[in-house]
Amino acid sequence: MHAHEAGALHGQAGDRGPAWLRTPGDPNELVPQLWASSVSKIDGVLTVAGESVLDLAERFGTPTYVVDEDDFRARARAFRDAFPDADVYYAAKAFLCTAAARWIDDEGLNIDVCSGGELAVALRAGFPAERIGLHGNNKSVAELRRAIEAGVGRIIIDSVEEIERIVALTAELGVTARVMLRVTAGVEAHTHEYISTSHEDQKFGFSITGGDALDAVRRILAEPGLSLRGLHSHIGSQIFVTDGFEVAARRVLRLHAQIGSELDVTLPELDLGGGFGIAYTTQDDPSTPADLASGMLRIVDEECAALGIEVPHLSIEPGRAIAGPSTFTLYEVGTTKSVTLDGGASRRYVSVDGGMSDNIRPALYSADYSCTLASRASEASPVLSRVVGKHCESGDIVVKDEYLPGDVTAGDLLAVPGTGAYCRSLASTYNHVPRAAVVAVRGGEARVILRRETEDDLFTLDVG
Ligand code: LLP
Repeated sequence: MHAHEAGALHGQAGDRGPAWLRTPGDPNELVPQLWASSVSKIDGVLTVAGESVLDLAERFGTPTYVVDEDDFRARARAFRDAFPDADVYYAAKAFLCTAAARWIDDEGLNIDVCSGGELAVALRAGFPAERIGLHGNNKSVAELRRAIEAGVGRIIIDSVEEIERIVALTAELGVTARVMLRVTAGVEAHTHEYISTSHEDQKFGFSITGGDALDAVRRILAEPGLSLRGLHSHIGSQIFVTDGFEVAARRVLRLHAQIGSELDVTLPELDLGGGFGIAYTTQDDPSTPADLASGMLRIVDEECAALGIEVPHLSIEPGRAIAGPSTFTLYEVGTTKSVTLDGGASRRYVSVDGGMSDNIRPALYSADYSCTLASRASEASPVLSRVVGKHCESGDIVVKDEYLPGDVTAGDLLAVPGTGAYCRSLASTYNHVPRAAVVAVRGGEARVILRRETEDDLFTLDVG
């Protein structure tokens, strides 16, 4: 594609959106599949579980991540119910705080953590260690020690050094560690390169095709302090096309069978990872947990039958599909302007009081979002708008293309759905903008579960 001389953002005329974006008949209307289940509009005002965003903004300020707690819990349960014979590990990197860890515990899921910090939060929440799995391509000795001492249920091994580190720790502590081996199946997941993890040229896991995975299995099996539970494969994130999953699952199962026949060891488990896509805009058409389950279980059953092996005990690791749709971010509009583009078209910019520090995904992955005017109904016609943040960065885009009522103005509230995963967890204090609060709403009651950072928090760190 020919690059526009003034940069990619100039390439598209401001009054024409992307091909998938439809001009709404009524820009006040919500697209239901993008919102948490307790969200609706009452007289034009967005409400969640009986709380209006006008009240939420007044009580908690903006920007604020607003979680529909029942929706989060229901999505966790839906995975649990769709995979009754498997273990469902919630991938805590999507969003974690002690309240979320307790919801996951209440709903009977396990938790996958990928750093000492996530482990600490899960343990602080009282999450049972034996239902925690630890991931990471470069876990420190201190992280491994803490996990083993706490008695985590499994550690997913990602490097040769890690095998040695865990062996040394188990010998020192006189325990056995239950481990899995992260393998890469050599498939291209159809998603953004930065969130694709199972092709060969990236940092995670051991390659199946190159033989590294089988070598690592041999090494682990030779260690009495390690109990190898099975293989682990995660092909990437925000995936809709299931052919990648299918190829990966079949390749991993072939290795699983090969370990049985060549090394005479039947591994009891298999983890197929997470990565299930959610709807951020009307372009996205995600599968339900039940559909995912029937598709994945059919593939595993078929392949095991073809290989003549028993079906291993499965686990999966959804993160985004549980946390993402449960949450919207509430912003207040500060300024608006129309910018004249080449060729005479103009683009309407609506600036809100957050941006890339509370949601880096548009800048990092060119992620698309949608939004709605949340504080009132409007009679004005829809105008294609670009919602931007307040940071000193022209890539600080919140919603690249959305039709908003033409009279959106300073003081209005906007809400962006689908921000429950990888937004607060990837938040920064860029430009010394304090990180936003997370408020959970349930049964007409709202409570802060992660408080907003303050200037004092910034100064707590600034000890020079
Ligand atoms: N299991 C493993 C081993 C993972 O690495 C991940 C995500 C998951 C499970 C959960 O994937 P999910 O179901 O949430 O898609 N920051 C990126 C996503 C990074 C995903 C990292 N690993 C984003 O905002 O799209």
